[in-house]
Amino acid sequence: MILPSSGLHSVDQTVDPSQRLRFLDAESAKPAMRYARARSIELLEIGEGARILDVGCGAGDDARAMAALVGRSGRVTAIDVDPLMLAEAARRSDGVDLPVEFRLADVYALADPDATFDGSRAERVFLHLAEPERALAQMVRVVKPGGKMVVLERDIETRTIDVPNRAVTRRIVNFWCDRFLGGWIGRQLPRLFTQAGLLDVSIEPVTVVDTDFAAFDAQYDLTRIVRRAEAAGAVTPEEGAAWLAHLDAVVRAGSFFTSMTNFIVSGRKP
Ligand SMILES: C[S@@+](CC[C@H](N)C(=O)[O-])C[C@H]1O[C@@H](n2cnc3c(N)ncnc32)[C@H](O)[C@@H]1O
Repeated sequence: MILPSSGLHSVDQTVDPSQRLRFLDAESAKPAMRYARARSIELLEIGEGARILDVGCGAGDDARAMAALVGRSGRVTAIDVDPLMLAEAARRSDGVDLPVEFRLADVYALADPDATFDGSRAERVFLHLAEPERALAQMVRVVKPGGKMVVLERDIETRTIDVPNRAVTRRIVNFWCDRFLGGWIGRQLPRLFTQAGLLDVSIEPVTVVDTDFAAFDAQYDLTRIVRRAEAAGAVTPEEGAAWLAHLDAVVRAGSFFTSMTNFIVSGRKP
């Protein structure tokens, strides 16, 4: 069950939850993402006794990492709309003695009073939201004046793939991007932070590069994406087949290259 108002429209609910978790874990294990997550936590300036909110916590790995920084008097509240994700977070937290609480909640309807937290963070969540301004406003509302806000999101249209046919590659990437409600969220976040009245807004890009085709395709399944682009009329079946043949040649030549840029955006509540 997903809370009805979640706005979680673009997550592929046809993919079974364990597959979604495998995808997230594989992405999180990449060195660039490990750096980005660590940096996003560093930007929160977590001190002893801090109260931190993690929005869309998924399996809770970041919430636990932050809970290790708040000391015994601090607390991390980690929320998610998906009970299956929260069940996995509970499973991974079993036997872990840290001040972290996982809660079923929707970012659009946070029950916490104004100015509850010293910092608030979200990673790979806004990508799936129909109303990012409203989600950000809620996150700002529950942070104390002077508190930090950090959001780490990718911009799907920054996907590069080195396959010869540029026109078809662009159409496939644009189709892929537009399947997400927040496909452009990476480039939009700095403006949303400024419009939300946040101060000291900083932007740090982190690009994830993949050159191991087998590992990348096990995660993303490019054939499936091309087939969907064909079905949607973004490319013809002939263009899709030719593109996959080009891709196959690139892979056989050992020169597969793809990248995607993430943006860590931070700001301070006045
Ligand atoms: C791609 S996962 C990222 C999980 C985790 N932040 C990470 O980086 O590993 C996105 C998560 O956001 C949650 N989510 C989506 N919409 C939400 C909403 N409206 N309120 C709270 N959580 C939401 C999903 O259930 C999912 O667990």
